[in-house]
Amino acid sequence: MTEQVEIFEVGPRDGLQNEARLISTADKVALIDMLSQAGFRRIEVASFVSPKWVPQMADGADVLAQIDRVESVSYAALTPNMRGFDGAVKARADEIAIFGSASEGFSKANLNATIDESLARFADVAAAAKAEGMPMRGYVSCVTDCPFDGEVAPGDVARVVAALRDMGAYEVSLGDTLGRGLPERVDAMLAAVLEEMPADRLAGHFHDTAGRALENVDVALARGLRVFDAAVGGLGGCPYAPGAAGNVATEALDAHLRERECDTGLDVNVITQAAEIAKSVRRV
Ligand code: HMG
Ligand code: MG
Repeated sequence: MTEQVEIFEVGPRDGLQNEARLISTADKVALIDMLSQAGFRRIEVASFVSPKWVPQMADGADVLAQIDRVESVSYAALTPNMRGFDGAVKARADEIAIFGSASEGFSKANLNATIDESLARFADVAAAAKAEGMPMRGYVSCVTDCPFDGEVAPGDVARVVAALRDMGAYEVSLGDTLGRGLPERVDAMLAAVLEEMPADRLAGHFHDTAGRALENVDVALARGLRVFDAAVGGLGGCPYAPGAAGNVATEALDAHLRERECDTGLDVNVITQAAEIAKSVRRV
């Protein structure tokens, strides 16, 4: 039987944020407009973070203002704090995401805060999102390995997932930020997380540094997950995770899922064209 599996496109945000050269707003908009034709339900297009931390994402409001919005697509943005939340609301993002870490080293490097400090900030954002009726997703980074602290214990991931759940995240995306997660450790992590949140409210977010992202997708599929984040053209990395390669490529994930009789509902021709745009934006 064909299974429905959703690919959540994160290329315009997670992919492009790591590019050293400043990419023009027009190029970002062209990429997003192409992606909007592919059949995605959700596309992450911006981050309302400090431009000192991630200069590449400084034009998020312009990007959201200039894209041709497709009614059926939810355009998502990252918001680390209330300032980011206010920016995302003003720019008419359809949903927001708060993003924590399961490891202290990455939390400090990415958010300049301990895990508990970051969760306290997110609680304000979550309350505001609830009051606005704004859907809120959660991310947990470094679910198996941290570039600063090494191996991450499954229980540490489950604790942050539970905190994001309690704040009202409708779904939590589990990030192998470094892309070095071994399938057996991903499986152990999922076993712990599933004690806190059901599979239909979890997403897999695998980077492909060690070339094992698709194996990790299979592990997550076997655990019942049906949503995976990916970036066209395998764009990405993470500015605060030295050594992290790109996200698993949308087109490779889509082909992999089809081989497993999973239906993503995506138009292969359009994602192929979007991957070409992504690669050319990167090359210029
Ligand atoms: P801080 O320096 O501790 O905060 O950074 P601050 O409050 O002192 O602010 C510093 C400056 O930024 C101030 O400006 C603020 O006004 C400004 P100044 O007074 O110096 O001129 N500022 C902002 N500007 C615009 N929008 C904002 C904002 N907030 C403060 N929202 C902070 C703390 C959280 C702001 C910072 O650490 C930050 O922006 N971090 C974001 C880093 C980031 O975006 N990382 C990549 C995304 S996470 C990721 O990729 C992983 C993921 O894909 C999953 C996975 O793969 O694992 C999600
Ligand atoms: Mg990521």
